[in-house]
Amino acid sequence: MKLLQSTASPFVRKVRVMLIEGGTADQVELVATATTPVDTPADLIAGNPLGKIPCLITDDGDGLYDSRVICEYLDTTIGGGRMIPADGPARWSALRRQALGDGVMDAGVSARYESFFRPEEKRWDGWYDAQIDKITRAVDAMAREVDVLVATLDIGTIACACALSYLDFRFAELGWRDGHAELDNWHASFAERASMQQTAPS
Ligand code: BEZ
Repeated sequence: MKLLQSTASPFVRKVRVMLIEGGTADQVELVATATTPVDTPADLIAGNPLGKIPCLITDDGDGLYDSRVICEYLDTTIGGGRMIPADGPARWSALRRQALGDGVMDAGVSARYESFFRPEEKRWDGWYDAQIDKITRAVDAMAREVDVLVATLDIGTIACACALSYLDFRFAELGWRDGHAELDNWHASFAERASMQQTAPS
């Protein structure tokens, strides 16, 4: 299997952290793929018509996307179902926390595109601010369930950790730690894991 990826993408990082935590990273070859919203390489489009990373090319040659589908596929096929509970309350908790982390990544990447790729004269401050508001509310929600994050290693916890690390990477000025000491403590300890160290953006 091949993973078309870039270390800057928090969605890629979530997939890679899950693989490393599950001890199966050696079964997926990493293929560095440079892409922007307006410039997408042909081999990425061949795997994912949306032109987005991460894209997994399975051993059958099929392209799988997006990161949630890739994580479910990898956890089911090679991960022994350890990171995404199969059913019951644990499943819905993990998937909801994944959606929370992914939502922060979505808003963060959108804000990054607005402030970095979009020509300056076309930027819309109100839209950028709305993305930051989403991030702020979602970080507050993570802080309210920090006990679950501390106690659980699943796809939801990994997504929240990768989302907060993306904020550190691209939005350090946001100061997400302010008023969130426990969340900060949890994130600092999670960030020391080998899976996080090995997937830091380069
Ligand atoms: C970034 O540079 O922030 C980025 C790159 C690829 C995907 C998402 C984000």
